[in-house]
Amino acid sequence: MGSGMLPAGAYVTYEHEYILIFRKGGKRDFSTGALKRVRNASAYFWEERNVWFSDLWQLNGTKQTITKADRERSAAYPLELPYRLINMYSVYGDTVLDPFMGTGTTALAAIITGRNSIGYEMDSSFKLYQDTKELDAIFSLGNKVVEQRLKRHSHFVQDRIANGKDVKHKNEHYGFPVMTAQERQGQFFKIAEIKPSECELQVEYVEIEKESAINQTMQATA
Ligand SMILES: C[S@@+](CC[C@H](N)C(=O)[O-])C[C@H]1O[C@@H](n2cnc3c(N)ncnc32)[C@H](O)[C@@H]1O
Repeated sequence: MGSGMLPAGAYVTYEHEYILIFRKGGKRDFSTGALKRVRNASAYFWEERNVWFSDLWQLNGTKQTITKADRERSAAYPLELPYRLINMYSVYGDTVLDPFMGTGTTALAAIITGRNSIGYEMDSSFKLYQDTKELDAIFSLGNKVVEQRLKRHSHFVQDRIANGKDVKHKNEHYGFPVMTAQERQGQFFKIAEIKPSECELQVEYVEIEKESAINQTMQATA
């Protein structure tokens, strides 16, 4: 910091990074049947919207694990970063392009959020997730993220009700309370299987069972 605890030579650290958001062309058209349904299924929660669409995100850094001799840091960013952006700006089944793939955090977030992804990486020491241990880790992490998301929503509902406030709508698939009509058709998927091939992972999903999603919110409303 320049001069430790002693004035006057210290300098301020630069701890923010900007995310630039561009759109190619006009707004996407979701007015037709199938697209409209997939967009509605991809809805995020009201309380997520309030945090995600603010101009300041406070995220912890991530471990920079890399053992290659000529490179000490992977420059990986936290999973939460692409996870939020993918949820905010794409729908289930869309394709996310990461031209600077590194450790593949964006691809991982795309897997967890039910999107396709394509990544480029010039450094051949970064390999596509492939061995059983890595795939098992993706499987359990992915499913934990979805589970935690529903749990967080439960806690939100619980707090709101405890504070005497309304949660007016119900999710049509699972029956749990949601804040707005736009969240009523939201659907959640777990990873069922990950099949690796040489330069590709194929992921199959199953929808979260009604009972399991409702159980998460029963804790909230009990
Ligand atoms: C900041 S790191 C990306 C880290 C990644 N977001 C993650 O979470 O692991 C940028 C990566 O882009 C790669 N890269 C830089 N220029 C490239 C290019 N022209 N084509 C493909 N990859 C490139 C670098 O090798 C580096 O691994």
